Amino acid sequence: MISLSLHTARDHIAQARRVAVLTGAGISAESGIPTFRDTSSGLWAKFDPVKLASEDGFRADPPLVWRWYAWRRGLVGAAQPNAGHLALAAAQARFDAFELITQNVDGLHARAGSAPIELHGNLMRTVCLARCGFMEDDPLLLPVGEPPRCPACGDWLRPGVVWFGEMLDVATLQQAQAVAARCDVLLVIGTSGLVYPAAGLPAEALRRGAKVIVVNPQASELDELATVVVRGTAAVEVPKLLAAEE
Ligand code: OAD
Repeated sequence: MISLSLHTARDHIAQARRVAVLTGAGISAESGIPTFRDTSSGLWAKFDPVKLASEDGFRADPPLVWRWYAWRRGLVGAAQPNAGHLALAAAQARFDAFELITQNVDGLHARAGSAPIELHGNLMRTVCLARCGFMEDDPLLLPVGEPPRCPACGDWLRPGVVWFGEMLDVATLQQAQAVAARCDVLLVIGTSGLVYPAAGLPAEALRRGAKVIVVNPQASELDELATVVVRGTAAVEVPKLLAAEE
């Protein structure tokens, strides 16, 4: 049976020395960034991930894919971190360890003051399709073109995010797995729990003896394994969960 309780979740956090956090698109929903799988507003309800988020899709129509990512960069650039991002950044100092892993590519955790492990890359990063080593984190410094050409080798430049069919960076994934394995509490915020390997981190934390707290306004794949589920939105519930004891 699923245990639902903000109070119990707060107790688990209060007793923890090492806290880990795994976030998904839901943490940024209240900043106005669409999630992927919401049935009406989610990106994958409106756009085809095979065309827009795979290497084959990019090779079929590089300008189309480049413009879609430029549109997403614009959305993110106009958005602000919300109370959920800010509460996570503010909580860092209160624990022996407070380590944040995100599946998001929007950079809002960093803008709130956290230094997340970014499992799926970052929208603002651009890399060379041929993986020649070129990388640029400031879109304003890119050569002109849609998409621009790599100044080092002349191939296309592409967004520095993980696409369908691609492996995660091995060192980044290992870092995230180590964080999940050594925490007392893993706080899982705003993810459907459908995309692996990220979705496997809560089970790994649980196996190593951690408590797993899920924050989500809707049912997720991770509810069944959670120690406790907080049924609400990130910007409302995360500040309550992490508020210092009076
Ligand atoms: P999804 O779109 O799959 O799931 C978003 C989750 O956020 C859902 O469970 C929602 O119920 C929840 N949610 C919605 N609003 C919320 C709010 N205000 N507060 C808290 N939770 C809320 O997004 P992810 O699980 O992040 O991968 O998706 C995982 C990966 O799939 C993404 O990183 C992306 C996508 O394809 C890549 O691009 C590689």
